[in-house]
Amino acid sequence: MPRTKLIAANWKMYKTPEQTREFFRDFLPLVSGHSRDEIVVCPPDVDLASALDSAKGSNVAVGGQNVHWKQEGAFTGETSSAMLLALGVTHVIVGHSERRQYFCETDDTVNLRLKAALEAGLTPICCVGEVLEEREAGLTDDVLRRQCVRAFHAVSARKASKLVVAYEPVWAIGTGKTATAELAAEAHAVIRREATEVFGEEFASKLRILYGGSVKPENASTLMAQEEIDGALVGGASLDAKSFAAIVKY
Ligand code: 13P
Repeated sequence: MPRTKLIAANWKMYKTPEQTREFFRDFLPLVSGHSRDEIVVCPPDVDLASALDSAKGSNVAVGGQNVHWKQEGAFTGETSSAMLLALGVTHVIVGHSERRQYFCETDDTVNLRLKAALEAGLTPICCVGEVLEEREAGLTDDVLRRQCVRAFHAVSARKASKLVVAYEPVWAIGTGKTATAELAAEAHAVIRREATEVFGEEFASKLRILYGGSVKPENASTLMAQEEIDGALVGGASLDAKSFAAIVKY
């Protein structure tokens, strides 16, 4: 069975609640009736309520950009799965490279966050990817394998049924450099092999692996044509309604 593609917007630290409403006002008519792919927008936490309100009854789901592993507690600046669920959020990004790079996110905390998201019934989009030095040193496959093994640690195939992985080569994020479709497909194959080892073949054959890193309307169709690429995680080009709609409709 072909895997339904997931096209996700990661807005990072962009847009106010008002700008979020404006985006949805422009975006929803452009993708109304689009049922080929699953569409998700992940705004900053302060915009979640506006996004959910704007997207109500539409074919666009709303996701968070991070989730803590505890339900509540003295963890300044964090958001729990219970809080996301209470709002009506269905998806959440976990382990984005910017979290790893700038906020000391480690493979271990990615694992804790991933488990919390799955436990709560959220659809986690778990990000992995190598930095430029690792690629140049021929370490890409090792890095991807390590990140996957550590992220999936103590997660059962049954619990992981909603898991989505995003391959985001760090050197391609926000740089305008996209991995070639073939190069991305190779990395996806490494991730799928790792998922086969951990969760078994049946699970791995259904696992959706997204590509992220300078996805634009101009390169979306080439990337999405790869059998191994099951969708996209889009940063910069998702901030504009027309451009994100063009990617959704690749
Ligand atoms: P860009 O699309 O801006 O390169 O960002 C990719 C990304 O980090 C999505 O999570």
